[in-house]
Amino acid sequence: MNKIHHIVVASAFVVATAMLSGPGAAESFPPIRNQTVNTECGDCHMAFFAEMLPRGSWLKILNNLENHYGEDASIEPALLNEVITFHTSRASDVLNSRGARKWRKGLKKGEMPDRITTAPRFIRKHDGNDFRYMWKKYKVTSNVDCVACHRDANKGLFDDD
Ligand code: HEC
Ligand code: HEC
Repeated sequence: MNKIHHIVVASAFVVATAMLSGPGAAESFPPIRNQTVNTECGDCHMAFFAEMLPRGSWLKILNNLENHYGEDASIEPALLNEVITFHTSRASDVLNSRGARKWRKGLKKGEMPDRITTAPRFIRKHDGNDFRYMWKKYKVTSNVDCVACHRDANKGLFDDD
């Protein structure tokens, strides 16, 4: 192992350890308490926080659940209405919480990302060596697997930088 490699690994280790901590995190979202959302949207991946995308994104995504990134995630109309109401009322350009404000920052007017992982804040925050190091270390297969690196992501806790 050469010296440069060693330094990169050592600094990444500090972050990796820090990622495990939960309470006190600078970026947090209230845990999702809507049972329908947790059941219908937390089955194949963790239920994502509505504050991470604008209203228009959620409408596009939720009105097309039968073609959901290669899967059929459609649900019955009554449940769908509840899920739409939940997401649109907490969307990044609707809610005025700290988390929502962070995630709407950098969106161009009318921009509606199809994914959280293509939203400006995600891209800004996942662009470093620590991120690449953790991808390998935790054998991550998709950026969508937030919990692989953010242990308490399900509870709405993401670590500070
Ligand atoms: C049948 C399984 C399934 C269900 C149920 C499901 N999803 Fe997904 N979802 C997926 C798959 C597969 C992907 C793409 C994952 C990838 O790219 O690695 C995805 C991706 C997403 C993404 C984009 C993530 C990103 O940033 O790349 C969002 C947002 C999303 N789902 C929201 C929802 C919501 C809201 C619900 C509930 C209405 C839901 N999903 C229910 C399978 C599902
Ligand atoms: C391969 C590991 C990895 C994956 C997967 C990952 N992240 Fe991250 N995330 C990081 C690293 C590294 C940072 C930057 C260090 C930091 O800010 O704590 C970060 C930073 C963040 C931050 C900023 C925290 C802050 O306070 O500045 C948020 C929010 C975040 N990630 C959300 C997500 C979400 C949502 C997902 C899933 C859609 C996800 N991450 C997937 C590694 C990952």
